Amino acid sequence: MTFTRPAVPMIAPSILSADFANLAEEARAVAGSDWLHVDVMDAHFVPNLTLGLPVVQSLVKATDIPLDCHLMIEDPARWAPPYAEAGAHNVTFHAEASDDPIAVARDIRAAGAKAGLSVKPGTPIEPYLEILREFDTLLVMSVEPGFGGQSFIPEVLAKARVVRNLVDAGELRLIVEIDGGINADTIEQAAEAGIDCFVAGSAVYNTADPGAAVRSLRSIATSHRG
Ligand code: DX5
Ligand code: ZN
Repeated sequence: MTFTRPAVPMIAPSILSADFANLAEEARAVAGSDWLHVDVMDAHFVPNLTLGLPVVQSLVKATDIPLDCHLMIEDPARWAPPYAEAGAHNVTFHAEASDDPIAVARDIRAAGAKAGLSVKPGTPIEPYLEILREFDTLLVMSVEPGFGGQSFIPEVLAKARVVRNLVDAGELRLIVEIDGGINADTIEQAAEAGIDCFVAGSAVYNTADPGAAVRSLRSIATSHRG
């Protein structure tokens, strides 16, 4: 049986570009989004520091939008499962940060969340294709992780196409997600490459109407779906 793709492309606004002093309100501004993307950075795996578990615990109570936690941290074996226990919908960690990603994925799932694997732009996907059957999402980074507002790197779409084909062939069952530099111009080519879920930070929150930005991105992705 092949994996049933989401009927409509999913949009996950990234609160990295939101007002950190008003996160509950910023979540309300994107009501109707499929997931709310939460970038956790530890100033070790990436050269930036954002937020951690206490903020996620509060956000779970403040919004009905499922939280898509993207952990850009070292030692996910130790730190990832508590995000699942806190009620995150997805807990995604980096392939580059783990020497036993299968064990981490199993711990995340056992703690009640979906498990996601993320790869940086320069990381090949081939070494991970076998283990992707242990995951619910693949998060393809289309910028170097660490900061919002960077330019989209189109070369990473080759990785998305490889995984899209395996999902369509029934060999994998997961959501292919992309993160970094997604806006009204770049989302077309990502949609054509078969992406199911689009993270967008600055293109949503650096606008006067974040809710309208989400709807507009979803509409463009729908009409360019590959
Ligand atoms: C970057 C983060 C992204 C970031 C995307 O490390 O993982 O989620 O918020 O921001 P934009 O959409 O502005 O590139
Ligand atoms: Zn992210």
